[in-house]
Amino acid sequence: MSDIATGTETTPVAAAGPAAGPAGKVLLSVDHVVKYYPIRGGILRRKLGDVKAVDDVSFDVKAGEILGLVGESGCGKSTLGRTLTRLLPATSGSATLGGESIFDKKGRDLKRLRRQMQIIFQDPVGSLNPRMPVSDIIGEGMLAQADATNGWGDRKVRDKRVGDYLQAVGLRRDYARRYPHEFSGGQRQRIGIARALVLDPEFVVCDEPVSALDVSIQSQILNLLIDLRRDFGLTYLFIAHNLSVVQFISDRVGVMYLGKIVELAPVDDLYASPGHPYTIALLSAVPDADPRKKKQRIVLKGDIPSPANPPTGCRFNTRCWLREQLGNPENCVTEEPKLRVLKSGHEVACHWTEKISGQTVEKAADESDVMQTDVPVGA
Ligand SMILES: Nc1ncnc2c1ncn2[C@@H]1O[C@H](COP(=O)(O)OP(=O)(O)OP(=O)(O)O)[C@@H](O)[C@H]1O
Ligand code: SF4
Ligand SMILES: [Mg+2]
Repeated sequence: MSDIATGTETTPVAAAGPAAGPAGKVLLSVDHVVKYYPIRGGILRRKLGDVKAVDDVSFDVKAGEILGLVGESGCGKSTLGRTLTRLLPATSGSATLGGESIFDKKGRDLKRLRRQMQIIFQDPVGSLNPRMPVSDIIGEGMLAQADATNGWGDRKVRDKRVGDYLQAVGLRRDYARRYPHEFSGGQRQRIGIARALVLDPEFVVCDEPVSALDVSIQSQILNLLIDLRRDFGLTYLFIAHNLSVVQFISDRVGVMYLGKIVELAPVDDLYASPGHPYTIALLSAVPDADPRKKKQRIVLKGDIPSPANPPTGCRFNTRCWLREQLGNPENCVTEEPKLRVLKSGHEVACHWTEKISGQTVEKAADESDVMQTDVPVGA
């Protein structure tokens, strides 16, 4: 094993959570964004329908803020991140960065926008070209963005900046000459982060940046992202399905279900008093730090429906424990619940959120217990 894989990087300062809170001014504004993937079939490849991956999503992210985005696999998190950064075309809706339209940009303006918005991917192996040395991997985007003012067309200027950013992410400058296979997973993710930050973005989508890493490395990368946010004045949309990771890094959290945001709240508020039956079920599955405490776990019935044919009304109605307890009220299937303010900064998309109490949650957990013990061992 090379000396690199044994981990000679500087360990980032341990932080107890986000170091700097949101500054207050809105940087990213997302307004009724829709992204459908057409389903085609037959010899003529006619359109048969749509996968409604992101369906009418609106939210703001303040400058300097980390907005976490959670939800089950396939709920549309990556599609939303990629649509906002113009890696995918939006179907409809609008979004602005610093007041400027994201989806309308073309030509030179689009090129400038691409610099301002970067994405860090989940898979540090797959996202780095194995045949390129690190200097070219990180320098590639700079070359594409080179102009007379930044001087990035000059190899020396690029190499100097690549070295600076390797150091900024806790790696040695001379690693620039090495190839991706010479690095450990955590180091490869640091290279992925340097590649995104070298372009001096304002807004970064972190799409599951620690999911592929060992647990011991995850906290190093999370602390690094927190430090870089402070040092480079960054704003993140942080996508993950690990709720503990999102709790650790986020200022606010959005919960997605089948292409919609069903709850949006400051992180402490969301984890202490979730207001959507789906969020309550998700959080109930997070193991307690104290193993002696018995957790009230709510197991959702059935599979997540297809985003090509989502349920009418509230998309969660086929799996909702609260609806069942309330005797299946009609508006859950006829009327789509919009996000509404529950208390300051805390929005929930549920017609019946006020009916949630300690008793209803306990009842749902008890019924889940029965469901689980009813399943024959080994089934
Ligand atoms: N290129 C595509 N063409 C058609 N459907 C797609 C495409 N990419 C994603 N989808 C579908 O869109 C929906 C949302 O996918 P997406 O990858 O955004 O979910 P996700 O929340 O990021 O999931 P995960 O947690 O597994 O990464 C899924 O049903 C997925 O199958
Ligand atoms: S609107 Fe109805 S189905 Fe949807 S989460 Fe609320 S109670 Fe459940
Ligand atoms: Mg994804």
